[in-house]
Amino acid sequence: MSPKPPRSRNRQRDAARTAAFRVLRAVSADGAYANLELARRRAGLAPADAGFATELVSGTCRALGSYDQIIERAAGRPVRSLQPAVVDALRLGTHQLLAMRVPTHAALSTTVDLAALEVGERVTGLVNAVLRRVAERDWAGWLEVLGEGEDDLGRLALAHQHPRWVVEAWARVLPADELAAALAADNVAPVPNLVVRPGLATVAELGGEPARWSPYGAYRDGDPATLPAVAEGRAGVQDEGSQLVALALARADAPDGEWLDLCAGPGGKSALLAGLARAAGTRLVASELQPHRARLVAENLRAYPEPNRPVTIVADGTRPAWREGSFARVLADVPCTGLGALRRRPESRWRRRPEDLPGLVDLQRRLLATAIASVKPGGVVAYVTCSPHPDETADVVAGVAGATVIEAPSLLPEVPECGSGPFVQLWPHRHGTDAMFLAMLRRADR
Ligand SMILES: C[S@@+](CC[C@H](N)C(=O)[O-])C[C@H]1O[C@@H](n2cnc3c(N)ncnc32)[C@H](O)[C@@H]1O
Repeated sequence: MSPKPPRSRNRQRDAARTAAFRVLRAVSADGAYANLELARRRAGLAPADAGFATELVSGTCRALGSYDQIIERAAGRPVRSLQPAVVDALRLGTHQLLAMRVPTHAALSTTVDLAALEVGERVTGLVNAVLRRVAERDWAGWLEVLGEGEDDLGRLALAHQHPRWVVEAWARVLPADELAAALAADNVAPVPNLVVRPGLATVAELGGEPARWSPYGAYRDGDPATLPAVAEGRAGVQDEGSQLVALALARADAPDGEWLDLCAGPGGKSALLAGLARAAGTRLVASELQPHRARLVAENLRAYPEPNRPVTIVADGTRPAWREGSFARVLADVPCTGLGALRRRPESRWRRRPEDLPGLVDLQRRLLATAIASVKPGGVVAYVTCSPHPDETADVVAGVAGATVIEAPSLLPEVPECGSGPFVQLWPHRHGTDAMFLAMLRRADR
């Protein structure tokens, strides 16, 4: 009888799991965006494998922090003491065991094979042993173990797979009885939203369902690039929340004059504002610090003809390239943590750190000061973040000089429950939009 071949000869390569593992490696080792990396690697997969890989990557990325705690308990040592590639394999295995309907034996054997082929035979014993310990409990069982000694916020963070500091921030701005729903909504992929460039296309051309509140939006599944209006730059992809904050700026009372988008890249809001400005008989100037992002802005504005064709410039918004008081309306859609769009970027909740906030807040304050100086007396500024974190929303606005806060919710009367004091705060669980924040300010008359 011939001896049994070494186990390594029988290793099965699974296309979906291999793709998912490589995406996860790119995310954790190189800082890649999961969605972009996934789109690249999905291309070569059969549809069923592509779907499996997507769920594996998105689910694993979302739950990373909780899975690492489980892996630490199961391994009896800190995750940081393990080889990073092994940790990624264990994370994928853990997701299959605790959140997908993959039978235990299949989750174990496929992850061990994956680790052997992608990392090396020598790690298979460890991977097998750790995953066997993980498989001893289901997700609810692990939540109980990890939740021991945790307070309510800690248990919510675990159950909904958010870092605790994010849950603490949400708890500062949301009623306690909404917290769980808000966190759960971050774990549901959004319906794709489209938007027309006003005056260049109609919502009916987009097909799909007209958006609930934005008169320029539609919800539509499928590849938007196949739509002629999108291919021709007469429409684009944009969350309805972004549409609404741009619309609020256009609706405010303001003097005549040109409009400015101070932080325009990649140009989603510019593309809507440019059409609204043209309809009002004026022009949008779209300004962006990064030349490559300014090129994206110009691309997004390309379909607008004369008159009042929008212009794109490259400029540092903290050192303006224009005279004080040059504009009637300014959008300051400042760089922020992006915590309001967690449902779009599954890995970002674990990548962002509270230590990111002070540097961002400093930049936000300086950009808001420029925005106020850039409008003429009586002119209006929309200060916008794609984050509901109070440090970068109400707290930034609280420190301004030379302008008064005006009621923003009254500019969006059709949107229910969008007010947070004088500010607009949209939420995925309430509005199905990203958690956009809007403060409207009017520059004091001289
Ligand atoms: C939140 S994004 C803007 C998104 C954009 N309004 C849209 O709807 O597509 C912030 C932008 O500000 C730019 N930015 C960062 N620092 C800046 C500065 N000092 N001056 C101008 N723009 C800046 C970033 O490069 C980024 O493109």
